[in-house]
Amino acid sequence: MSWQQHLTQSVRLRKGLAATYSWIKLPLIIGAPMRVMSGPELAVAISLAGGIGFIGPGETPDSTAVDLEAARAILEPQSDNGVLPIGVGFQLWNGSLSSAVAAVSRHRPAAAWLFAPRDGQADINEWTTQLRAAQPIQIWLQVGTLAEALSAAESSSPPDVLVIQGAEAGGHGRAIDGTGFITLLPEVADALRSRYPNTNIALLAAGGIADGRGVAAALSLGAAGAVMGTRFLASKEARIKKGYQDEVVRATDGGGNTVRTQLYNHLRGTYGWPKEWSPRTVVNRSWNEEREGVAFDELRTRHDELVKQGGGKAWGPDGRTATYAGAGVGLVKSVDAAGDIVMGARAEAVDILKALHCVTWSEDCTGNEF
Ligand SMILES: Cc1cc2nc3c(=O)[nH]c(=O)nc-3n(C[C@H](O)[C@H](O)[C@H](O)COP(=O)(O)O)c2cc1C
Repeated sequence: MSWQQHLTQSVRLRKGLAATYSWIKLPLIIGAPMRVMSGPELAVAISLAGGIGFIGPGETPDSTAVDLEAARAILEPQSDNGVLPIGVGFQLWNGSLSSAVAAVSRHRPAAAWLFAPRDGQADINEWTTQLRAAQPIQIWLQVGTLAEALSAAESSSPPDVLVIQGAEAGGHGRAIDGTGFITLLPEVADALRSRYPNTNIALLAAGGIADGRGVAAALSLGAAGAVMGTRFLASKEARIKKGYQDEVVRATDGGGNTVRTQLYNHLRGTYGWPKEWSPRTVVNRSWNEEREGVAFDELRTRHDELVKQGGGKAWGPDGRTATYAGAGVGLVKSVDAAGDIVMGARAEAVDILKALHCVTWSEDCTGNEF
């Protein structure tokens, strides 16, 4: 398929999303369902700015219903036939399908975002089938490899949207080195379109997008929209500790200062993640000392002591605890209102695409701005 056909198809799918989610403005910006950090205030602010905000999985499976209830309380006047103009994320390997079904039936979010099954496509099929039976909900699935994307598309319960998560992504992603969405998204698009030329599965790009430049890049690759996670950690509405947020704003050079490692999960006492996933985090003393050979038990003692002291010392270069964030962390320079982040990235992407059009294609450009 030629690039023109790909773009025509992605424009068709973009229009499909606009028809499904009546409040959105294009180009579409999505707020990722970051565990705990993406609470109701953040999700609602993103959607009210014309994006789609997702509530992340909570501390426990039952937290989701509480968060959706809070979102409904903020949104009530704007809710569209009872459907909340936000989505909700579920982490399958340790989630509760019965809690998810109850929360979705009761609160009717516009989309459910699935991630990280323990038992591959079989788990995804079960969640998809039961959620759709509970409520006619759009199913979004986040994948990090071509194989996962094809297995979902070929399954008995294909998703409505595939979020193509590149290796730069913050939080959990594929534990293997992986690839950025710059290669993964077009490869998935090629494979899907050649097998299913009329597919209605929209592709979204995630991983390292923090401003309009990333959004424009995603659209150029044929994405129907762009997902941002790390950028929204530095939003006024994020449910995040100040020390953590300060470190997201301070950290630079994600290529050198972020890694995927289970170390910080284990320091925080989180075990059980399926081996396919590992979280990207900003490094600090725990990581450096592990490299130097300090034993895990000693690292955990030092970690726990520092966390106990409070006051934000646990984060930063001299800190010891998890600062889950993406390789694009160096692009995040300030804490802003989520709505301003959405509108700013959208406007910047449009300006970039117009400017590129002007310098590369149009014979009518006056050249005034160049
Ligand atoms: C702190 C943090 C927590 C995350 N938690 C989840 C999660 O619970 N479920 C999920 O599907 N994705 C989660 N993600 C990954 C996002 O869905 C998304 O892929 C990622 O944020 C995109 O890359 P970016 O952070 O570079 O924007 C998380 C990301 C971050 C930064």
